[in-house]
This record gives sequence, C-alpha cells and structure tokens, in this order.
Amino acid sequence: MAKASRAFVCQACGAVTARWSGKCVSCGEWNSIIEEQAASGSPALIAIKGGKGKGRLAALETLAAASLEAPRLPTGIAEFDRVLGGGLVPGSAVLVGGDPGIGKSTLLLQAAAKLAEAGARVVYLSGEEAPAQVRMRAARLGLTEAPVALGTETNLANIVATLGSAAPPALVVIDSVQTLWSDSVEAAPGTISQLRGCASALISHAKGSGSTLVLVGHVTKDGQIAGPKVIEHMVDTVLYFEGLSGHQFRILRAVKNRFGPTDEIGVFEMRQDGLKEVENPSALFLSDRDRGAPGTAVFAGMEGTRPILVEIQALVAPSSLGTPRRAVVGWDPNRLAMLIAVLEARCGVRLGAHDVYLNVAGGFRLNEPAADLACAAALVSSMSGKPAPDDTVYFGEVSLTGAVRAVGHRDQRLKEAAKLGFVRAAVPAAASEGSREAKAMRLLPVSQLDELVAWFAIPPLE
Ligand code: TYD
Ligand code: MG
Repeated sequence: MAKASRAFVCQACGAVTARWSGKCVSCGEWNSIIEEQAASGSPALIAIKGGKGKGRLAALETLAAASLEAPRLPTGIAEFDRVLGGGLVPGSAVLVGGDPGIGKSTLLLQAAAKLAEAGARVVYLSGEEAPAQVRMRAARLGLTEAPVALGTETNLANIVATLGSAAPPALVVIDSVQTLWSDSVEAAPGTISQLRGCASALISHAKGSGSTLVLVGHVTKDGQIAGPKVIEHMVDTVLYFEGLSGHQFRILRAVKNRFGPTDEIGVFEMRQDGLKEVENPSALFLSDRDRGAPGTAVFAGMEGTRPILVEIQALVAPSSLGTPRRAVVGWDPNRLAMLIAVLEARCGVRLGAHDVYLNVAGGFRLNEPAADLACAAALVSSMSGKPAPDDTVYFGEVSLTGAVRAVGHRDQRLKEAAKLGFVRAAVPAAASEGSREAKAMRLLPVSQLDELVAWFAIPPLE
C-alpha cells in the first residue's frame, strides 16, 4: 500500500507543494498554505492497479442520440432564470459564489421556496445556520408556508443517505459547500481536499439521480477556508453574486455556463423583506443622478442581451503629491490610465498634475471598452467645471490614436436611452447613419476624441 505522505496545499488556488511557505509560489497569496494528507494514489490509478483488465465496459453513444434542448426547471425568479439560460437544468450542478453577507442564502431560499410552492420537492441543507436561523430568515421573507425540506447536515455520507432515502428531489441546495466533510478524506472541513472530495461526490450523486444541485461557496480573501474557485471546473454553471456592501443593488453574473450564455446578468435590490428583482436596471441606476453637476456622464452600456444605462462620475482636482493619485471604482484602472494618456497626448488635456478619481454609480462594474467615451466626457467635464448636458448619453471605444471606434448594439443602446428620456447621444462617427432608433435621437457623431474635448471648451495646449 502506498504510504500516505504529507503535502502542503494552497487554499486559494489548490497548488500542492512539498514544503510549507508563507507565500504561495503559484498564485502569490500569503498565508494560504495548509498541510493536508496527500491522497495515497488517485482513484483512477487504484482501479487500474487492482482491476488487471477486469473493468466494466463503458457504454458509448452517438452524438445524435443526445436530446437537443436541455429540459428546464424555471425557478420563477426571472432575473435568476435569465442568468441560468432559462432555468435550472435537471441533473446539473450550479455553483453560486460570493462574498459572505452578499445575499446568497437569501436568493437560494427564495428560489427554493418558489419551486417548492410550485410543487417540486426541494431539500435545503444549511451547514452554517441552525434551523431556527433559517426559519427566522424565511419569516422575514414571508416564506414560512413554503414546503421546503430543511436540514442542517454537513456529513457527506449522511447527506447522500438522506437524499437516497426518498424519491430524488428536484432541487438540492447545499449552503455552504465549505461546511461539508467526509470521514474518508483526512483533512479538516473547509480544506481543498474536503471541498473537492465532497463536491465531486455530490455532483455525481446529482447526475445519477437527476436532481439539480446548487452549491453555495464563500469567496474568501484570507485563505482560511478554500475558495469556490477550486471546484469551478467540476460544475456545469458558475454564478457569482456581487455588489458593493452598503449598496442595495446585487448583481448575479454567469462566469461559466454549459447550458446558456455567460454574458447575462441578473439585477436585484436587497430590501428589508428580501431580494427584489429589478426589471429596469437603468432607471434604478440613474434614479438619484446629480443633474447639472460637472464631472458626470451617462454611459449607454450593454450587459449580455440587455442595454443598461449607468452614470459615470469623475473628479479631477489639482494634486499636492509628486505622483498624482488615480483611483477608480467599477472600471479597469489600466483603461483609465490609457484614457488619461490619450487625453494628454492627443487632445492636449493636461492631467499630469491632477488627481483623478472615477466612479461608476450604484456599485456597478463595467467591462466594455465602449465605456471609454463616457468616461472621457466625465473626466473632461470635471476638468473644465462645465457640466455635461444631462439629456445626452455616450458610448464609443477610444483607440490610442484618439480615434473613436464603433461598438456593437448601437440601436439597442439608443432605444433604451430614448425610453429613459434622453434626447441626444454622442456616438462614434462611423456608426451614425440612420436607422429608426437613430432617427428618434439627435446623434452627435464623434470621430476623434478632441472633438468631444472641444465641446467642453478646454483650450488645447499650444
Ligand atoms: P445572506 O443571504 O445571509 O448572505 P450570504 O448567505 O451571502 O452570506 O444575507 C445577509 C445580508 O442580507 C444581511 O446583512 C442582512 C441582509 N438582508 C436584508 O437586507 N434583507 C433580507 O430580507 C434578508 C433576508 C437579509
Ligand atoms: Mg449564507
């Protein structure tokens, strides 16, 4: 028998080393390495060694035999279903990750209750909270009548036995996967070995029984417990629930989805009585806009198939530091650095002696290069002290030459802006020819970034 040896495993990225060190060489995380018992050979190797050609023949099928459309189990929460690609897929495994306290348990209890009320058998296993706590949350959400089967088991063998004792449930929620433990893994609960072992056992159980498995995983920064990243490859769908703490908006984002798109988002608002779906996120993100203040501009963005309007705020102030500060919330700092360089080099806007702060309102995070033009408008407006007109939206990508490039989904962006009462749109010149949506708005074509700068009357440098 192979001797069990010691191994040191990084709880953030799963890298295995032979020696302990303060910093993981693989991901650079500090204090994340914990000693775990190394497995005495992988299960596959054991089967080959012990079996000597006695393995069972696996059934191989044709591609044509597979059903074309995966059946769906809609949760009844439209924003959640949209991110899933139409609903939960029976037999699949979904990982819902997020910072502690962001609202994962709330979302899943609401989804579980909706499904249970619609007649599906739902098992909710909470390893973190006592039944009384879960009941208190249910009372707060007004869901005490929902026929959800609630448990607090964390032992893998007991969970599998419980699930196998009756007809397989349509949905099993494990809150959270980091509390699971199994006797057959010699490591403490919350370590990588336990997490991987228990998750893979539950996933194969779900695939076999046809239940949908939802695993909740806490994103951890200190590496005390293993993060959900290490089981992302095992599950079919990975969703992250995010939002700024202190902000009521929550955004559910698909990072991986074997059964649907990955660029969709679901927007929720955390209220006293639970998460409410936000059907028109633009109206919410723009609800308390500072009209008429310099340094703000509205970006007409796209998230997946849906247009979303957000306000971008900038503050440009003379710096007293040798190296001025650049701070950005909700956007890529490298993109801001690039935009500042283009404004300096191509448009003569001198930002070198100024601190620059940029913020995307509402705790929203932008990933699109199309946000460049709106960010530039906010920066230039703050620099000049002249407010950007509050009936105008901006979108367009800025290249290093200062040219403004066309971006996709122009008509959808314009339609959403018109719906919310905007009348003008600064758009890339290449995309300003007429369509019905374009005719409904006054388009202000911009081909070079310095044209936009000229609107705010910042004199170019000699
Ligand atoms: P929770 O779902 O427990 O977060 P997670 O499971 O991701 O750790 O939500 C915790 C926070 O949400 C908590 O700070 C209280 C707040 N909350 C509300 O504001 N309204 C509600 O109806 C509920 C249930 C929670
Ligand atoms: Mg929780």
